[in-house]
Amino acid sequence: MSDKSGVLLYYKDSKRKIVPCLDVVKNDLARKRLDFLRISCKNIPEFFLNQWDHVKLYSPKADPENASAILLEPEQGAFDIDNTLNELSGKEWTKFTCSWFIFNALPSDLKQEKLLNLSTEDHPATFSPTMVSDFISFFTKSGARVIDPFAGIGSTLEACKRTNRIGYAIELNKKYYDIIKQRFPEFDNNIYNHDSTKLDSLDLPLFDFSISSPPYWDILNRSTDGFKKQRTTKGLDVNYSELDADLGNIDNYDVFLDKVCAVYQKLYNFMKQGAYVVIIVKNVKKNGVMYPLAWDIAKKLSQLYVLKDEKIWIQDKVGLSPYGYPKAWAANILHHYCLVLRKE
Ligand SMILES: C[S@@+](CC[C@H](N)C(=O)[O-])C[C@H]1O[C@@H](n2cnc3c(N)ncnc32)[C@H](O)[C@@H]1O
Repeated sequence: MSDKSGVLLYYKDSKRKIVPCLDVVKNDLARKRLDFLRISCKNIPEFFLNQWDHVKLYSPKADPENASAILLEPEQGAFDIDNTLNELSGKEWTKFTCSWFIFNALPSDLKQEKLLNLSTEDHPATFSPTMVSDFISFFTKSGARVIDPFAGIGSTLEACKRTNRIGYAIELNKKYYDIIKQRFPEFDNNIYNHDSTKLDSLDLPLFDFSISSPPYWDILNRSTDGFKKQRTTKGLDVNYSELDADLGNIDNYDVFLDKVCAVYQKLYNFMKQGAYVVIIVKNVKKNGVMYPLAWDIAKKLSQLYVLKDEKIWIQDKVGLSPYGYPKAWAANILHHYCLVLRKE
């Protein structure tokens, strides 16, 4: 076969590069295999089906009859039709499995929020929908149900919208709840103004995935004068609320730990078998002592879920403060733990 555009079979060459196979007979077999997969395989993502004329068969050893992967662009890698977890290529899958990543707030995310003309800036601790989209894309397929029990202004729902998943949100503070309702009419029936420690009283369906970031204990009530002054001057919130049910207002560490874990313990019954739950949290300091909040949550919840891993999120564009200087050690904590738990 001389014309590369008619090639339907790709394989891995001796330099481990995905390249076209020019053997006419093998390409003919590849066509038959592709026709068969299209009819018989229920696992092919929509975006492949929508441009089926451009789909190629991939077999590392150029064996079309036993090939189980397809691709659109060789640089993106191939999708294995036996992939039951997500819609990523092997290359994208492997990239995500690194146990750490660096991520700083994206100006495009912040701009998008401001364009909504809502008081989204009011919330003092949001995470990025772009970052959350990566988790959702790894842990689910299109159309999956995803819940965030500490939804804030709905960053997880924005990520669901971008990735074509069905978002559910629970948020205690009416002001933030109203923002989510306004932002996401498409998820209107899935948004609850509720105390997540009582989420079992809601009529919820079964979920494929959960990602959330709870209050980091009462850290906001203790934040530095600089943070408070800057936000107060702009008329923005310096904590989540004054509500008793707000977990960010609990002073006692053990009480806080029990309550935050109770949310995920109750969520367990609403997760599908095999579903993952990702909790983004930090170890925190109070009066010069470190409280290993991330590790304690991981340990406590591993009595119910299987603790699979941690993925460390690093922020490397945050200014350092001279904590402890010039007498004692005190770290600037610029990493978070994304705890990965699974219902098995
Ligand atoms: C770290 S913020 C989450 C921010 C969110 N990820 C976002 O990007 O907008 C934690 C949220 O938990 C909410 N919260 C605190 N206690 C709660 C409770 N008992 N039930 C539900 N939500 C609660 C707070 O109001 C706050 O919005």
